[in-house]
Amino acid sequence: MSPYITDAAAWQESWDRQQEAYLPDREHRFEVMLDAVDAVRDTAPPRLLDLAGGTGTISLRALRRFPDAEVTLVDLDPALLALAAASLGDRATVVTADLGQPDWPATLPHQRYDAVLTATALHWLPAERLAALYAEIRDLLRPGGLLVNADHMPEDTLPELTGRLLARARERRAARHAAGAALSWSQWWDQAAQDPTLRPLVRQRHAIYPSGHSPEWNPPVSWHLGALSDAGFSEVGTLWRGGPDAAVVAVR
Ligand SMILES: C[S@@+](CC[C@H](N)C(=O)[O-])C[C@H]1O[C@@H](n2cnc3c(N)ncnc32)[C@H](O)[C@@H]1O
Repeated sequence: MSPYITDAAAWQESWDRQQEAYLPDREHRFEVMLDAVDAVRDTAPPRLLDLAGGTGTISLRALRRFPDAEVTLVDLDPALLALAAASLGDRATVVTADLGQPDWPATLPHQRYDAVLTATALHWLPAERLAALYAEIRDLLRPGGLLVNADHMPEDTLPELTGRLLARARERRAARHAAGAALSWSQWWDQAAQDPTLRPLVRQRHAIYPSGHSPEWNPPVSWHLGALSDAGFSEVGTLWRGGPDAAVVAVR
C-alpha cells in the first residue's frame, strides 16, 4: 500500500524541472515517442508499458494523449514509485520490479503490449543485461508493436563535437543550478529526504541504489541498433536526435 502523498503534483513539477535541467528537450522526445505509438495503434485502446518510469512522467503524458490507454509502469525506486502511484491513481498499474533480473516480466499484469516506452533509464544497466532486456521486451510486444528508448546515445561519427556539446550543456546546467532555476539530482533527493512521507522511502532507496545511482554506461547509438537487431526486431532505427541524446525505435 502506497503512503498518502498530498502534494504529488508539486513533486512531479519539481522532478520535471530537475530533469529538464539535464534534458532541455525532454518534452519533445516524449511527444515523438507518443507520435510513434499513435502511428501503430489500432482501434483498441493502446496498452502501454512505461519501463523504469520513475514518477510516471511518460504514463501521465500518454494518458493525456490517449485517455483510454491501459498503462503499466515498472520501476524499482520506492520513493519514485510512491509518487507515480499517487499521481496516476487507478489510471495505471504501478509495479515494483528490478529490470536487472530476467524474471521481471512475471510481475506484469499483461504479457502483451502495443508499445514499451522508456527514457533516461536503461543506461543504468550493464551492456550484457541491456541486450538481454531488449529481447525480453520484444517478447512482450504484439507483432507490429514497438519499443522506444530515449537516452544518452551519442552519434558514433561525432566524437569531438559530442564532447563539445556536452561541455556547453554542462555550463548551461551549472548556470541554472547556480541561479536556483532548478534543483540538481542530489539536491532533489536531499529535499525528498526532508519530506516526512518520502523520508522512509528515500532511506529504502539508498539501500537499493547504494551509490545513489547504478553504474552509467552510454554507448553510441550504433550499439543500441545492433543490440535491437540481434534481439530479433524487424525494423530498428533512430526516431529522434537531440545533440548527444537520441531515441531509438524497434518494431516487432
Ligand atoms: C532518471 S530516472 C527516469 C525516470 C523517468 N523515465 C523519467 O523520464 O522521468 C531513471 C529511472 O530508472 C529506474 N531504474 C534504474 N535501474 C532500474 C532497475 N534495475 N529496475 C527498475 N528501474 C530501474 C530508476 O529507479 C529511475 O526511476
